[in-house]
Amino acid sequence: MSESKYYIGLMSGTSMDSIDAVAINFKKKRMECLGSHKHEIPQNIKEQLAQLCQLNESSIAVYGATDVQMGILFSEAVKSLMSALQLTPENIMAIGSHGQTIRHSPPGGPNIPFSIQIGDPNIIATRTNCPVVADFRRADMALGGQGAPLTPAFHQVFFSHPSLVRLILNIGGIANITVLSPNRLCIGFDTGPGNVLLDGWCQRHRGTPFDENGNWGAGGTICETLLHQLKGHPYLRQISPKSTGRELFNLEWLEQQLKEHQNHIGFLAPQDVQATLCKFTADTITDCIKSLKFPVDEIFICGGGAHNRALTETLRQHLYGLNLRTTESLGIHPDHVEAAAFAWLAMRRIHGLSGNLPSVTGARNSTTLGGVFLP
Ligand SMILES: Nc1ncnc2c1ncn2[C@@H]1O[C@H](COP(=O)(O)OP(=O)(O)OP(=O)(O)O)[C@@H](O)[C@H]1O
Ligand SMILES: [Mg+2]
Repeated sequence: MSESKYYIGLMSGTSMDSIDAVAINFKKKRMECLGSHKHEIPQNIKEQLAQLCQLNESSIAVYGATDVQMGILFSEAVKSLMSALQLTPENIMAIGSHGQTIRHSPPGGPNIPFSIQIGDPNIIATRTNCPVVADFRRADMALGGQGAPLTPAFHQVFFSHPSLVRLILNIGGIANITVLSPNRLCIGFDTGPGNVLLDGWCQRHRGTPFDENGNWGAGGTICETLLHQLKGHPYLRQISPKSTGRELFNLEWLEQQLKEHQNHIGFLAPQDVQATLCKFTADTITDCIKSLKFPVDEIFICGGGAHNRALTETLRQHLYGLNLRTTESLGIHPDHVEAAAFAWLAMRRIHGLSGNLPSVTGARNSTTLGGVFLP
C-alpha cells in the first residue's frame, strides 16, 4: 500500500441501519475514495439504541454500556475496512467518527439545547491505533448553532459549480438539503423526515427494516386528508436554521396522527399509510425546494433514500423539468457521501481549519469542530 495518507469517515445516521466506513484521499478540491465497508449493527444493540432514543428514557447504565459497545463496533468497522484495503495505521491520518446520535435537541425548542452522539472515541483510537476526531456537533452548538447539518461545508468544497445553482439532497433517516449558489452564501437545513417514518411503519407491518425500492407503498393509495394533517407538523413551518431528528418524527407521533384521523375520517390500511408517508416525505422535501427565493439548476441525491424508487419517482414528478441525478455523477457514490464528509471534517480538524458554516447552522462564527483522541 502506498504511503498516501488516508482519512477514514465513519457514519451511522438516524436510520440506524448500519455503519458506513470509507477511506478517502483528499487532494484540494478533489477526493479519491479508496474503498468502503458497511458494518452490521447487531439486533440487541439496535434495540438498546432504540431504547435510548425514547424521549422519556433516563437509563444511564444503558447509555454508558451502549457508548462502549458502539465504540467497539466502530473500531471493528474501521478494522474491516483497513484489512480489506490493506491499510495500516501508518497510512491513516485520522478517523472522523460522527458517532450514533441518541438525542438531538437543538436551539429553538423548549429545552436547553444539546446533542448526544455515542460510540466512545477513546476505544476507537485504542483499538485501531489511529488518531480519532469525534464530537463534531457541540462546538457549533456552544456558539449558538444547531450543530447540524454539518455536511454542507463539505458539499460546498466538492460539489459547487462556478455558474449553476446546485442542490444536494441527502435522504437519510432525516432529509436535508444544501443549496450551493455561485453568488450567495450556502444554505442548508433538515427538511423533515427522510426514511425514518417509512422504515418504522414498514418494520411494524411487514417485519422488514425498509420498504425495498418503495414497492409496498407504491401499491397503496395516498390518503389526501391524512397527508394534509401530517403536513401541519409545526417543524415544517419553522424557518431555517433548523435541524431535527427522531425526537419530532417518530412512530409515536405517527400513531397519534392516525388516531386523530381515524376518529374523524376512518381506518386506513397499513399499505395506504405507507403510500401517504412516501408522498409526505417527498412533499416536505419539494416544498422546501420550491420555497427557495431563486431557481435551482441541478439536484443531486445521496443517502439511502436514493435507492427508494417510489420516493425518487415522486420527487421527479414534483420537480418536473429539473435535472435530478445521484451524486454518482459528481464522482461519489450516494451511500458514501455522509461518511466522506466526516472524513473531510476530520481532515479539517487535524489541520486546525473550521468545519461549520454559520450561514447554515446559525452559529455566531465558524470554528474547528471535534476533539482529537490519540491512540
Ligand atoms: N433499496 C432500497 N429501497 C428503499 N430504501 C432503501 C433502500 N436501500 C436503502 N434504503 C433506505 O436507506 C436507509 C439508510 O440510509 P442512510 O444510511 O443514508 O441513512 P442514515 O444512516 O440515517 O444517514 P444520515 O446520516 O443521513 O441520517 C435505510 O434505512 C432505508 O430506509
Ligand atoms: Mg446509514
